[in-house]
Amino acid sequence: MAGTISNRPAVLVALSCSLARDYLSQLCAQLDCRVQRCEPGEELLARLEGASFDLVVSDLVGVRELKRRRPDSPPCVVVARQASVDFAVKAMRAGAVDVLVEPVGIDELAAALHHGEPGEQASEAEQSPVEVAHEASEDALVGRSLTLNAVRQRIQCAAPSKATVLLQGESGTGKERLAEMVHRASKRADGPFVKVNCAALAEGVLESELFGHEQGAFTGAHQRRIGRFEAAHGGTLLLDEVSEVSPAIQAKLLRVLEEEELQRVGGNRTISVDVRVVATTNRDLETEVARGTFRHDLFFRLAVVPIRVPPLRERAGDVPLLVNHFLERFRHETNSRVRRFSAAALALLEQHRWSGNVRELQNLVRRLVLLDVGETIGDELVRRELLGFETQRPASLQPCTIAAAERDAIERALAVTAGNRGQAARILGISVRTLFNRLKRYEEEDGVGLVLPQLQRAGVA
Ligand SMILES: Nc1ncnc2c1ncn2[C@@H]1O[C@H](COP(=O)(O)OP(=O)(O)OP(=O)(O)O)[C@@H](O)[C@H]1O
Ligand SMILES: [Mg+2]
Repeated sequence: MAGTISNRPAVLVALSCSLARDYLSQLCAQLDCRVQRCEPGEELLARLEGASFDLVVSDLVGVRELKRRRPDSPPCVVVARQASVDFAVKAMRAGAVDVLVEPVGIDELAAALHHGEPGEQASEAEQSPVEVAHEASEDALVGRSLTLNAVRQRIQCAAPSKATVLLQGESGTGKERLAEMVHRASKRADGPFVKVNCAALAEGVLESELFGHEQGAFTGAHQRRIGRFEAAHGGTLLLDEVSEVSPAIQAKLLRVLEEEELQRVGGNRTISVDVRVVATTNRDLETEVARGTFRHDLFFRLAVVPIRVPPLRERAGDVPLLVNHFLERFRHETNSRVRRFSAAALALLEQHRWSGNVRELQNLVRRLVLLDVGETIGDELVRRELLGFETQRPASLQPCTIAAAERDAIERALAVTAGNRGQAARILGISVRTLFNRLKRYEEEDGVGLVLPQLQRAGVA
């Protein structure tokens, strides 16, 4: 095991309850470990300064605090009073490799020691310290797949330098989140992090947005305006969807990147800027270069560190972690009763193609939490929700009148509830009477019943 002189593993038992501390220390001794004991918190941190350990056994607060302040600490195991999925998720997010439920048996402790071994720890060790420190927060990058860890590692390597990073990946894969990680992990973390969405702005607006303008530069330029490059001085500028930039602005961008100086629109004074640029695109920029729509010199200038962000279907193992992450977040936001997804529901989600990637998954979990069907979300409901979206009509045929949109909402609510009108009315926020009236009207309009086709679409009838 890492960092030990003898072959006997070194364990630090850091628990505030002295009985539990003594009991676990005895178990460690029985497993032929060298063991030290201490209080969690400051004493735990101090012990780690003086000696190396293969495993730390502590409580949730102790592990969370330790991983926040010493992200490179040895593997940690959390001791819990009771077993629960919620607790296990929290412990994992805090950076623990395992949870031991009291009363701890010798076999469980032996298994936890095994989890702390280097082979088992690979993904943990590959995470950047900064990223681990943010793991428990809302802007954490959730996922432990090898592909995502490879991205983390590249970001960790690139972050300290001023090298331009180009994040390429499908929509919703987390490019913007990763761009923020580059900034947070860099020496510029205390400087500004400024974003520009290049696709959202017309050419003229984008130019003045990026480089600023002098008073009177164009009609309506009543006063001088600082651009985003200047605003990002000493920090990082995110050029989101950089592939959408026009040739004229591409030329200007190249100049700023090469010479680290710019002129505001309508001005002739040269202004020096110290900015680290991170760019994102959901197109293949090399193809755009081959097609002649993107300058090759700018491409090479942006892609000093190119990073491919993998689509979610290439890291299906991250799906349950993401589901639990969003479930925790949304259920607190909405006071929903939903507590978990069944194993079958999770398996279904792991197999899904996720063409909208993490954003699609996030929205699905939000919707399921809002439906508030009970404590456990089962595979039937998940299947219907996924199916509902996959079988949707193409955009051009989507309803565009309010009446049609209302009917669509009613049809979906009935599909989701397997035709249960009471439940459907609750989801829709209307009375059952109103729902009946609408259904009657649709039947009269169509000359057929609505419920049967709905149930067929939902795979129920
Ligand atoms: N690994 C992740 N952990 C937690 N949340 C994530 C993760 N990846 C993405 N998200 C969330 O998914 C949503 C989409 O991510 P983001 O906006 O970064 O995607 P993007 O690649 O920039 O997409 P687009 O190309 O459409 O702009 C955001 O709400 C983001 O917070
Ligand atoms: Mg984005």
